[in-house]
Amino acid sequence: MASNSSPKRSRTVVLGTGAGIPRKVLTNFDLEKMVDTSDEWIVQRSGIRERRIGSEGESSITFTTQASLAALEDAGLAPEDLDLIIMASHTPDMTLPSGSCLLQGRIKAKNARAFDLLAGCTGWLYGMVVADNFIKNSPDFKVLVVGSEFLSNRLDWEDRTTCVLFGDGAGAVVLTGGGDGRGILSTCLRSDGTQWEALTMLGPGSMYPITHEFVDKKLHVVRMEGNRVFRLAVPALEEVAWFVLTDAGFAPSDVDWFIPHQANIRIMESVAGRLGIPMEKVIVTIDKYGNTSSATIPVALSEAARDGRIKRGDLVLLASFGGGFTWGAVLIRW
Ligand code: ACO
Repeated sequence: MASNSSPKRSRTVVLGTGAGIPRKVLTNFDLEKMVDTSDEWIVQRSGIRERRIGSEGESSITFTTQASLAALEDAGLAPEDLDLIIMASHTPDMTLPSGSCLLQGRIKAKNARAFDLLAGCTGWLYGMVVADNFIKNSPDFKVLVVGSEFLSNRLDWEDRTTCVLFGDGAGAVVLTGGGDGRGILSTCLRSDGTQWEALTMLGPGSMYPITHEFVDKKLHVVRMEGNRVFRLAVPALEEVAWFVLTDAGFAPSDVDWFIPHQANIRIMESVAGRLGIPMEKVIVTIDKYGNTSSATIPVALSEAARDGRIKRGDLVLLASFGGGFTWGAVLIRW
């Protein structure tokens, strides 16, 4: 999946970014009243201080639409300019139609093909790589890649080991081909389906259809062996980061901004430390939003691009890890 790093070839460039974040804030102190936990435990173990949760009447499409329209506006494009929509989510509004088709209809992107992509928390990053390959074939293509999760109704609010970690939200980018040496320099995707039990949302699906037992056993919620995931994530993220850097001819010291998946501040610190990237160069949003799964990186990217931290010409390293397991990295000259 690596791409050639010659400066002359057309690359996939980011035209615009956007985020859709729920207004409702759920703090660690709110959670202290719901389960046997404490602000101190959650901050020390995860770095999360609060997360955003959708309200009644809101669902995935609410925040997917906000993020997508913001990214289009930032790109200076209208919805009908889009050729393709890729939506990464394991919590879309419906099983059928896809979240991407609902979005296409909602924003009236009448010229866009649309499909969903399921790769756990790494879904948006997988979407970036798929979009990059479309754009290599058709450099004029305008592609929206949106990561969106509505996890709050897929959590067991009595399970303190998971409910404190996640939040709702969406982040999006608009991509196209460009020829000035900027853009996606290298990509790397990996999967390992042998350890899938460590992080699941078992149903509803053909193996676990909806029955009374399904509901009683809460088989629709996120279950995670956090410690096992933690130990797998750190070396995996480090390996793919090294892969894309080496492939494009860079060292970690060349990186201006590192945006890892926002699942746990200790994972981010550990990976950054192994790579020798100082934390001042790591974009962190987990304190505000928790783990929004496939939305974490595009939300963080959007915030850092819009507040001026990420500047034209910066070398930006993205790396993600999630259920499946799936993981990967993308290196961008901004
Ligand atoms: N409040 C208080 N105590 C808690 C809580 C809580 N919310 N949750 C667990 N504990 C307790 C446990 O019961 C355990 O108690 P015990 O020692 O008496 O058995 C103790 O705290 C330690 O539990 P651990 O699970 O060992 O704690 P750990 O330091 O591993 O932190 C955490 C847990 C935060 C989940 C961490 O393992 C983690 O972040 N894992 C990685 C998750 C991840 O990376 N996911 C990303 C990919 S997947 C995705 O994003 C969807």
